[in-house]
Amino acid sequence: MISGQVQLASYLFASILFILSLGGLSSQASAKRGVMYGIVGMIIAIVSTVLGEGVQGQTYILIAIAIASVIGIFLARKVEMTSMPQLVAILHSFVGLAAVLVGFGSYIDPKTAQLTGVEHNIHLVEIFIGVFIGAITFTGSVVAWGKLDGKIRSKPLIYPGRHLVNILLVIGCVVLGYIFTKAPGVSGLPPLYIMTAIACFIGVMMVMAIGGADMPVVVSMLNSYSGWAAAAAGFMLGNDLLIVTGALVGSSGAILSIIMCKAMNRSFLSVIFGGFGAAPTGPAKEVEGEVTAMNHEEVAELLKAAKSVVIVPGYGMAVAKAQFPVYAMVEHLKKEGKEVRFGIHPVAGRLPGHMNVLLAEANVPYDIVMEMDEINDDLAETDLVLVIGANDIVNPGALDDENSPIYGMPVLEVWNAKDVIVMKRSMATGYAGVQNPLFFKENTNMLYGDAKDSVTKINGFLVA
Ligand code: TAP
Repeated sequence: MISGQVQLASYLFASILFILSLGGLSSQASAKRGVMYGIVGMIIAIVSTVLGEGVQGQTYILIAIAIASVIGIFLARKVEMTSMPQLVAILHSFVGLAAVLVGFGSYIDPKTAQLTGVEHNIHLVEIFIGVFIGAITFTGSVVAWGKLDGKIRSKPLIYPGRHLVNILLVIGCVVLGYIFTKAPGVSGLPPLYIMTAIACFIGVMMVMAIGGADMPVVVSMLNSYSGWAAAAAGFMLGNDLLIVTGALVGSSGAILSIIMCKAMNRSFLSVIFGGFGAAPTGPAKEVEGEVTAMNHEEVAELLKAAKSVVIVPGYGMAVAKAQFPVYAMVEHLKKEGKEVRFGIHPVAGRLPGHMNVLLAEANVPYDIVMEMDEINDDLAETDLVLVIGANDIVNPGALDDENSPIYGMPVLEVWNAKDVIVMKRSMATGYAGVQNPLFFKENTNMLYGDAKDSVTKINGFLVA
């Protein structure tokens, strides 16, 4: 057992480690250190909480931690990089569910009944709000998991008058909250149950209304909600560290959501309310031109002739695990004296920083990895762009087709280069489910096949 003061000091220390962890995660070079700070902070947090005054049943807690750790390690080792967003979404749902359970537990805890006056009222409000946020986070994250995993269709589910229904439901929750805080003893359970059911429904409908192209923002928004749910649980339990940690996650998730909205030229409110005013008003533009294809040898010849090459990776490169042969190709081209760089779109792949992590895994130096804004203007002077398993992020419709679901999202303007090669397996659409006019442009050629296989074959012709 540790004293309250020791616990407070260790909570403070853990909070500092969490802040350092977030700071570390802001750049690739310091990310590993950031993760280590987070791990150490979390160990300190768990140990000092479990050994704190008034905590009983440590044996059960330790058994639960051991079982959960085994499951966690197993899942983390097994999960593919491409399935990371789903894992993150389902983990957010656990935080939401935990806040709901803590809320109910806290309400029926005999200690709650011992509180009086303002203190009692504040505690009841904490419980009500905590359960509300927790329930929305829980079901919203489960739906996000289903959408990202392809179990639920990514098309937005929108019905007329849904905003009015949502407003009425929230008003209903406020009324239930009033009844709940006035109910003596634990007789407020029925309004708490009804509000939980309503909040679960709001969570489902909120994420169902969001289209595939906006899912990246939803993932970081639910990350933010899970932080607020944890902070609410911290208030209910009177745990300062949980409040601080929840606030850190909540605010950093909100900032990330806003940054991503800016990157996609979306308004934050329109995303979280599910396409508020952003719905296309007519059919997408007719695509003109013909699709032409090249073989591996022809692409290798183009590469040999090019002086400057930009590689634009996307989700398909992650699926194919093509980053290693891609880097072997880059090394070869650089040896030949060519300028080779990568152009990274902020939402390429399925989670923020997805491409950067893959390229770092293959030891690609950071200085040739450019952000979209850094490289877009240079594309017009580039001889050859290799689009590897990317689709939506190089779609010109985002700039010139007002009826495209991704209209307004900044994209890598690869079609301005002299030649473009798109490596993918077929003419299938990308995540947003929209046709890509890039494939029909005169200076674009398709190279069909699995990205890893294609790059390996090109490498063979390059060294031949
Ligand atoms: P997508 O638009 O999804 O396109 C990926 C392309 O890769 C597909 O068209 C697919 O075509 C191809 N592909 C799949 N497996 C392949 C393989 N083994 N070899 C070669 N090609 C393969 O991806 P993107 O361009 O990276 O854009 C990201 C999209 O995901 C955006 O719409 C974004 O909004 C969304 N999103 C992003 C995030 C974050 S945070 N980054 C989170 C959720 C959703 P084939 O089937 O023809 O091969």
